[in-house]
Amino acid sequence: MLNWEEGQATQLQEDPAIARAQARLANMDLSEANAEFEGESKARVHVGQKQMINARADLNQLVPFKYDWAWQKYLDGCANHWMPQEVSMSRDIALWNSEDGLSDDERRIVKYSLGYFSSADSLVANNLVLAIYRLITNPECRQYILRQAFEEAIHTHAYQYCVESLRLDEGEIFNMYHEVPSVANKAAWSIAHTRNLSDPTFTTGTPETDQQLLENLIGFYVVTEGIFFYCGFTQILSMGRRNKMMGVSEQFQYILRDESMHLNFGIDMINMIKAENPHLWTPEFQEKARDMIIEGTLLEIAYARDSMPRGVLGMNASMMEEYLKFIANRRAIQIGLKEIWPGMNNPFPWMSEVMDLKKEKNFFETRVIEYQTGGALSWD
Ligand SMILES: [Fe+2]
Ligand SMILES: [Fe+2]
Repeated sequence: MLNWEEGQATQLQEDPAIARAQARLANMDLSEANAEFEGESKARVHVGQKQMINARADLNQLVPFKYDWAWQKYLDGCANHWMPQEVSMSRDIALWNSEDGLSDDERRIVKYSLGYFSSADSLVANNLVLAIYRLITNPECRQYILRQAFEEAIHTHAYQYCVESLRLDEGEIFNMYHEVPSVANKAAWSIAHTRNLSDPTFTTGTPETDQQLLENLIGFYVVTEGIFFYCGFTQILSMGRRNKMMGVSEQFQYILRDESMHLNFGIDMINMIKAENPHLWTPEFQEKARDMIIEGTLLEIAYARDSMPRGVLGMNASMMEEYLKFIANRRAIQIGLKEIWPGMNNPFPWMSEVMDLKKEKNFFETRVIEYQTGGALSWD
């Protein structure tokens, strides 16, 4: 039988890796690492040194806070934590597998929504971690961005969970973003607005590059998360309101709640960067930002027509068009631009009620109370 204590003592004495590690530490040159903290960034941080972009203050010092709204959103995001397995999918599975439970148009909406969102949330997550996180030079904003990035992973998980539950063709759903034109155009538009910034050599610091970062924030927070998500959200939530696909609908309800916080955080960041750098908000740049919102809205209207060729679930493409124009006006106003399509009304006022819901009082009250985080799912 092995004498463990004896064996370990012998191993500690004999393992040459320990002697080598000690020698490396003794000879380690820390000057290069310390050089990163030279000058301003070596000192204790004062609130006045903090800036949204191009800050030179040490980014490893979270406090003192300057942007309380960012820290508050981080806390609120954590308080809203949820996981896809919390939602029971059993009734959805029965309905999806029944012969006459859903019309072809309703099935089309489910597939289009899972197809678009499954790739869109990945695009948003990639943009966050490969571009925005590096370029936003404020630790409390970065703290929220890390939270948001995890929420995007949960959203992608939720779509995968829906696809798996319903036994959909995963190849079909996860490839819609380059196989179905109305879905592909939206994804391509977002990708075009991250291309420059996700280059690891890209840096801000000139008016042109700072404007490129602002353009990216508008492209992702205002257009992708603030317009491209709204046709699909409305369609799926409308299904849930009619007692169909309640599990998928509840997943989307949680996602919409997260997304409305992402959108508000993005708008706060954009407006704070504008306030700190008013020279970036030129008339030409404002026109560009407005053009981006218009382009996004037109792409979303095309998606609405393709995903909803006929009236379904008490809505049709022209109602959705009015809703999207109403949303676009709000997005323009939220970043300080004038509205684009005056006189639009909201044909779906119930959408704003859904966004205000708290987790404890969910809309459909189908939440599974007892579940095991990380536990394997079985519905056979
Ligand atoms: Fe998301
Ligand atoms: Fe998001």
